[in-house]
Amino acid sequence: MLRTHTCGELNISFVGKNITLSGWVQRSRDLGGMTFIDLRDRYGITQLVFNMETRPDLCNAARKLGREFVISVTGIVIERSNKNLKLATGEIEIDVDSLNILNESALPPFTIENNTDGGDELRMRFRYLDLRRNILKENLELRHRMSIEVRNYLDSLNFMEIETPYLIGSTPEGARDFVVPSRLHHGEFYALPQSPQTFKQILMVAGYDRYYQIVRCFRDEDLRADRQPEFTQIDCEMSFVTQDDILNTFEGLSRHLFKVVKGFDPGAFPVLTYDEAMRLYGSDKPDIRFEMTFGDLTELVKGHNFKVFDDAEIVIGINAEACSEYSRKQLDALTDFVKKPQIGASGLIYLKYGADGSLKSSVDKFYSPEELQKWAEVFNAKPGDLILILSGSANRTRKALNELRLEMGNQLGLRNNTVFKPLWVVDFPLLEWDEDSQRFYAMHHPFTSPKPEDINLLESDPGKIRANAYDLVINGVEIGGGSIRIHSKNLQKRMFQLLGFTDEEAQKQFGFLMNAFEYGAPPHGGIAFGFDRFCAIFGGSDSIRDFIAFPKNNSGRDMMIDSPASISEAQLKELGITFLNPQKQ
Ligand code: AMO
Repeated sequence: MLRTHTCGELNISFVGKNITLSGWVQRSRDLGGMTFIDLRDRYGITQLVFNMETRPDLCNAARKLGREFVISVTGIVIERSNKNLKLATGEIEIDVDSLNILNESALPPFTIENNTDGGDELRMRFRYLDLRRNILKENLELRHRMSIEVRNYLDSLNFMEIETPYLIGSTPEGARDFVVPSRLHHGEFYALPQSPQTFKQILMVAGYDRYYQIVRCFRDEDLRADRQPEFTQIDCEMSFVTQDDILNTFEGLSRHLFKVVKGFDPGAFPVLTYDEAMRLYGSDKPDIRFEMTFGDLTELVKGHNFKVFDDAEIVIGINAEACSEYSRKQLDALTDFVKKPQIGASGLIYLKYGADGSLKSSVDKFYSPEELQKWAEVFNAKPGDLILILSGSANRTRKALNELRLEMGNQLGLRNNTVFKPLWVVDFPLLEWDEDSQRFYAMHHPFTSPKPEDINLLESDPGKIRANAYDLVINGVEIGGGSIRIHSKNLQKRMFQLLGFTDEEAQKQFGFLMNAFEYGAPPHGGIAFGFDRFCAIFGGSDSIRDFIAFPKNNSGRDMMIDSPASISEAQLKELGITFLNPQKQ
């Protein structure tokens, strides 16, 4: 062994012991008579001291060590005169009597400290150096801990972890597939799974009534802070269950994680229907760390010759408490915010409820003080509050007010990332109408079961059918989603028809599932959590990248290995796709 201990474990109780440590040179300080080196490994940092008087040879060698050199030292643990109580090892140091350089290091392109000077791209290119930073190490430790706890918890409930294939067939469901050409079958392609959805359902038919898998999924979609082209799900499925059983089981899993990883119990999760979530927050993933729910003024404001409101489908607002002192400049900035193309509102109306009880709005000339008082009542506003109002078409206006609400939450410091507010959103619509293609799409996926009480709408008004589908939302982030599945072959067939599949297309793409349903499919349902997102939320971050050891950048590139990359002419030929690249022939 090149070490007897790690750099994180020595403390005052080891004083006088002879030990050997190995690690990386984090920093060195030469004080003439003494040279100090901070030695780092995965477990921590230990200070080494080299004494010029007693060991000039070693001290001179230590002075020559560069950052990130890999060394091994032997010495005696001594008590420090100048203690650093912030560090676990801060009461001791090692009086070194032998130094062995295990490897040299080139000068790192950025400093390997929590506050680094390296830009994003540079750190991704040298990911192995970035991963040496404590902050990333802690993120990966958190991820590891969570995966262990997920497995412990699900194992205790009789769930079996079963692997499903990565080389499958392409399906038109959801996002775009990543495809893999087949060498043995020229012109044919595998696809990487967007999720193991159909396989887990088939496992239910096979009788494995409690399945889970911590599994990689692949989606060729546009990337954002909370989206990676390959990401990990905690994918789960159960047989002989109702929606309530699933919610209870996975609320149990989530609370277990909160308890053992974050050290607190968030209590029972509130449940909102999709309709309520849209009405109160304008979002199917509301951030309920703060109230500021929507108030509806549509009926109150019509018929006062204010054309903007008269023409609007809805007039809704939020109450920013204690903000009546907002200046002209601040209100203008909020107006600019809502007018940004990605937010899409045409303007912002405000009502200031002054601390003195006065009511002042940007549309005073159309509404009397008594009318404005009624507006204030809709929001339970108090003197000192500020009401912000948007109007227009229903969907767009709700979406814009949701953004404004989140922005106000940020400005008022109401979105503290050490506070966690989970909730379930249930009763999603089964289908979404797409104007461009003039067809319905499955809002969750085509295997989701309609609510039994809505099945009679299948023929008359499919857009109104609600699904037995649910999402777990924490702090405004969709952490997981699932549904009770269709397990009847005929209903599944009808669903594919509604989604515009011909019988042949449905048979070709999902025949294996429908065939399986011929052989005794049990009622079943499940859920999948975005594991990277779960970790990021627990780590208090918006970005999942910092919780993945080797992530892709925003354009889907792995900067370290430089992929995707072209492949050789010979490889292309072997795969039978050289003809796709005529210039190179
Ligand atoms: P869904 O598509 O909602 O459901 O995915 C489940 C969860 O996976 C996470 N997620 C992602 N995380 C990172 N990067 C991405 N590109 C990405 N896409 C999704 C989200 C999401 O809630 N088979 C169904 C589940 C089921 O019905 O059981 C499914 O995949 O946190």
